Amino acid sequence: MQPMRLCNTPSSYGLVSIALHWIAAVAIIGLFALGLWMVDLSYADPWYTTAPWLHIGLGVVLGALIVARLAWRLCQPRPAFESGMRGWERAAALTAHWLMYTATVAVIGSGYLITTADGSAVSVLDWFELPPLQLGIDRQADLAGRVHYYGAWLLVLMAGGHSLAALKHHLIDRDRTLIKMLRPER
Ligand code: HEM
Repeated sequence: MQPMRLCNTPSSYGLVSIALHWIAAVAIIGLFALGLWMVDLSYADPWYTTAPWLHIGLGVVLGALIVARLAWRLCQPRPAFESGMRGWERAAALTAHWLMYTATVAVIGSGYLITTADGSAVSVLDWFELPPLQLGIDRQADLAGRVHYYGAWLLVLMAGGHSLAALKHHLIDRDRTLIKMLRPER
């Protein structure tokens, strides 16, 4: 049996791109749900401090994963779109992909700015600490908080539309768009 291909080819995603895509997708949805849930916890709840600790720590880990993913994306060929896709569909897909990358970076970056606005370091799952980042602007936490909140909603809504588009390719057009993101060619 031949081993699975790690790198992309001009016609398929490799195992590294596929793993990075699905780990990031699960992390983004998980962090979104955790974020919405934790802001309503009462002071007496046992998760009151643990949930933000987890949200921040996993958010930083996702940040590192996204940097790796973008680096991998830029040094690998992007598999060609299916031949049946029209020009506007290809342009829309590429625009959506880059908007999702941008929104992910904005949401993680703004989360960092909220956490460190008061000058405190970021503890990453009690594993290591990252230094505070203060931009020297008024109300850094408020402004970053807005970017974080609306950016996260925008990202999740775009991911929802993107998932529906992937399902449409699979169930209606019956092309290989989704299959390519599920298993690498041998
Ligand atoms: C939070 C959730 C998700 C995010 C942020 C996300 C993001 C992305 C991004 C940025 C790409 C572009 C990869 C590249 O640059 O080559 C991509 C590709 C893709 N994604 Fe997702 N995705 C998510 C969830 C899903 C789900 C649930 C599905 C399936 C139902 C899916 C199916 C696909 C497929 C098929 C491609 C390849 C598209 C192509 O080659 O034209 N994604 N995704």
